[in-house]
Amino acid sequence: MEKSIYLLPGDGIGQEIMAEAVKILDWVQGQGLASLAIREGLIGGTAYDRTGTPLPAVTVAEAKAADAVLLGAVGGVKWESLDYAVRPERGLLGIRKELDLYCNLRPAQVFPQLANASTLKPEVVAGIDIMVVRELSSGIYFGQPRGVETLPDGRKKGVNTEVYYTDEIVRVARRAFEIAGKRSGRLCSVDKANVLECTELWRKTVIEVGADYPGIVLSHMYVDNAAMQLIRNPRQFDVILTTNLFGDILSDEASMLTGSIGMLPSASLGDRSALYEPIHGSAPDIAGMGVANPLAMILSVAMMFKYTLNLPEVADRIERAVHRVLDAGLRTADIMQEGMTKVGTVAMGDAVVKALA
Ligand code: IPM
Ligand code: MG
Repeated sequence: MEKSIYLLPGDGIGQEIMAEAVKILDWVQGQGLASLAIREGLIGGTAYDRTGTPLPAVTVAEAKAADAVLLGAVGGVKWESLDYAVRPERGLLGIRKELDLYCNLRPAQVFPQLANASTLKPEVVAGIDIMVVRELSSGIYFGQPRGVETLPDGRKKGVNTEVYYTDEIVRVARRAFEIAGKRSGRLCSVDKANVLECTELWRKTVIEVGADYPGIVLSHMYVDNAAMQLIRNPRQFDVILTTNLFGDILSDEASMLTGSIGMLPSASLGDRSALYEPIHGSAPDIAGMGVANPLAMILSVAMMFKYTLNLPEVADRIERAVHRVLDAGLRTADIMQEGMTKVGTVAMGDAVVKALA
C-alpha cells in the first residue's frame, strides 16, 4: 500500500540534510521495498519569508493528511529579531501541537566507532543505550498564562506556566512503560516534585499508571540529580520519562554522551500522526557549506520505517549501512578523528546509499 511522506526541510542545514534523506527514500522505492508518495512543504523561517508565517495552514493540512512527516530543522540568526509569534521555532512548536505529537522518543546510543568522540571517558560512555521519552505537546512550552507585560510602575513581568492535566501525563506514561517493556524493563521518571506541584502530580500519576505494568521497575529522580547522574554514571539509565522542558534539556545532555548531536534521530508520535527529525538544530554557522552531518536525518528516516511504516527490516538495513560507512572510516567534520577520512554532506549521503546495496 502506498504511504504518504511529507517533507519539511525547513532552514539552515535542514535543506542540505533533507536532500540526503531523499536519496535514501529513492533507494528504498527503487528496490521496491516500499511505495511512497512524497510531497514537500514549508516550515520555519523559510516559510515566513515566502508566506509571512512560520507555519502556513497548508503545511498543517498536508502534515495531518500524511502517514509520516520528515522534518529537517528550523531557525536562524536572520529571524532572531522577529516577534515571538512568527519566529521559526513557533512553526515547530505549532506543528507538534497541531498534530498532537505528545510522545517524543530521543534515543542516545553510542556508536562503537565513535566511543572516543565523547568528551567523557570512553569507559563511562561505552555501551550507553538510553531512550529519553519527552512529553512534547504540553507543559511549560504551551501553558497559559504566558508573555511579558509592562506594569503601571514601569517594571516588566515575564510569565510562563507549567501545566499538566492527568490525561496528558497518562498517555505519555503508557507509551514509556510500553517502550520499557520492549527494552530492559526499567523506567526512570524525572520530575521536580520536591518544589513544583505540577510535577508532583506528574509523579503520582506515573505511579498510578505503573500499577498496570507490574513487570516494569519504576524509579523516580529529581531533575537536578538526573542531570548529574547522566554524567556520573549514564549506564544506570535505560528509559527516561520526563516533561517537555526537562526532556529538552536532558536529551541534549544525553546526546553529548554519544559524542555528537549530529548522530541522533528522534520520533515524535501522536495517536494519528508521526514526525521524524534529527535532534540537532539548523546550525546557521555551517549552513550552505556542505559540511553538515546527514546521519541523524538518515537515522530519523530509519526510525520512520520502524515506527510508522512497519518496515523494521528496512530500518535495520539503513542502520547497518550507517555503521558500514563509519566502519569504513568516513567522517563529517563534527565527528572527525585522526586517521579517518573527512567527507561532506553529499559524499556521506552517497556513501550510505552505496552501503545500502
Ligand atoms: C528541540 C529544540 C526545540 C525545543 C526548539 C528549536 C524550539 O530545542 O527540539 O529540542 O525546544 O523543543
Ligand atoms: Mg532542544
